[in-house]
Amino acid sequence: MITIHELRRKFIEFFKTKNHVEISGKSLIPENDPSVLFTTAGMHPLVPYLLGEAHPAGKRLVDYQKCIRTGDIEDVGDESHLTFFEMLGNWSLGDYFKEESIAFSWEFLVSPRWLALDPAKISVTVFAGDENAPQDEVSAQAWRRLGVPEDRIAYLPASDNWWATGPTGPCGPDTEIFYWTGRGLPPPGSNKGSDPKNWMEIWNNVFMEFNRVDGKTLLRLPAQNVDTGMGLERTVAMLQGRKSVYETEAFTPILRSLEKLSGKTYGVPGNDPELDRSFRIIADHVRTATFILGDPKAVLPSNVGAGYVLRRIIRRAVRHGRKLGIEGAFLSEPAGGIVENYAGPYPELMENRERILSELKREEEKFLETLQKGEHEFDKMLPNLLKNPQRVMSGRLAFKLYDTYGFPIELTEELAAENGLKVNRQEFDEAYKKHQELSRAGSEQMFKGGLADHSEVSTRYHTATHLLHKALRIVLGDHVAQKGSNINTERVRFDFSHPAPMTKEEIAKVEVIVNEQIRRDLPVTMEMMSLEEAKASGAIALFGEKYEAVVKVYSIGDFSKEVCGGPHVERTGSLGRFRIQKEQSSSAGVRRIYGILE
Ligand code: ALA
Repeated sequence: MITIHELRRKFIEFFKTKNHVEISGKSLIPENDPSVLFTTAGMHPLVPYLLGEAHPAGKRLVDYQKCIRTGDIEDVGDESHLTFFEMLGNWSLGDYFKEESIAFSWEFLVSPRWLALDPAKISVTVFAGDENAPQDEVSAQAWRRLGVPEDRIAYLPASDNWWATGPTGPCGPDTEIFYWTGRGLPPPGSNKGSDPKNWMEIWNNVFMEFNRVDGKTLLRLPAQNVDTGMGLERTVAMLQGRKSVYETEAFTPILRSLEKLSGKTYGVPGNDPELDRSFRIIADHVRTATFILGDPKAVLPSNVGAGYVLRRIIRRAVRHGRKLGIEGAFLSEPAGGIVENYAGPYPELMENRERILSELKREEEKFLETLQKGEHEFDKMLPNLLKNPQRVMSGRLAFKLYDTYGFPIELTEELAAENGLKVNRQEFDEAYKKHQELSRAGSEQMFKGGLADHSEVSTRYHTATHLLHKALRIVLGDHVAQKGSNINTERVRFDFSHPAPMTKEEIAKVEVIVNEQIRRDLPVTMEMMSLEEAKASGAIALFGEKYEAVVKVYSIGDFSKEVCGGPHVERTGSLGRFRIQKEQSSSAGVRRIYGILE
């Protein structure tokens, strides 16, 4: 029976016999591409070459690439979704195109010398055509010539058969190859279009001849390229006749290790499906975390970007570990096995073994502490909660546990249930969604537009922050002091001391005052002086902030004067229109404003 390591080798070997040069896969953390957090496909590191740059290894390339896709993370735990997987790929950079690519795939799949699959169990899809490109008759014809019968060829629209890197970049129609997973042989007329459930995708051949610019316009690439991707784990599961990827040796050692740690058995008849699901979630997540931490460009768990994804998956694994009855930190145990299993194709794992194991442990312990704290806070709330005649815990309180202590909603619900309470989940979800939207807007924006753009927008927000600060002092009083601010290209978040929520009128007044200063197109000027002089001149300095002996003081016309490092715009007229999107509590005695420039 073919193993993962064997299929990887065979794929490379086959394409070498077709004059492809093996190139090494790249880091999971993309280089020079701030638009994604992880490498999501084999073609990702090849984008510059698909766009026309010459590749030093030539025009026919083959490799295996570690990939992470977290878009479907909530689906992980079923039989097929994975956050980490390997993609096998062969490329033509302006060399062969559709016919040869299809012929290579067919030979590798059905030739007795290679995978020896039964041709009767293969069906394919080709692009049905739309305003961007015609129906792909060249591909369909190539399949027919190889002996694929008409009823195994489905013509599908762009949603199925057009592949793109992202909203912009190389793209084109594809032809996808599926294997029959039903019983016996597929009946006549069955294909991916007519009978989608029984066919599993094993290979995708993309014919990249377009570059999408500005999110819509298609331009022709300098050359016609081929980008193919075969999911290694899924294909092996299929070749081994397994029901799921978790039954392949990519996962069985992990599951065995979790069985030992928990004293429970995976996948035996009579198991609670939720128990098996927890096993699978941990197995997937610990593998992903191991590869991220073992990457030469590893990120560590944090609260932003890729580090946050890593933190989330480790924490989720810990939670499911507790469901299996595993109490302490445990992930380094299966992670050690993964390192050994993959040391051949991925020597970096062995090189970074210590980091993988120690970072996992550190993050687990930190999270276990969070859980304890959350449980403690919940216990403190409990007497009050039990007084509620409806036995409902408000979503706002549950969100507070999440937001302040990082305590997961599922655990709040569990604790609540143990005490005969229900959580108002709808209210929680609303609060959560709002929070997500704000942070997503922030991070999406961060990936758009490049650095120059970023700093320009940030500078405008910086100046707006000074106007806001002063306007708040005018409307609410001199007790208002800045407690913190955070700027991204979408908004400013401003925390300030004030004992009560602002009224609608107060908010409106602040907006009017800020916009009035923008309309006046005030000049922004800077002077350097000692901190004492600055204070004596009436400049606002932040209490508790450490300043240098000489500070910069920024004045905005006659309106505001603040000690600040800058930078700022030259005149307020360039700010646009200021609007307060939201005003809320931040902590005791501190309010928080989200303001935007339109
Ligand atoms: N780039 C194509 C994919 O990821 C092959 O499916």
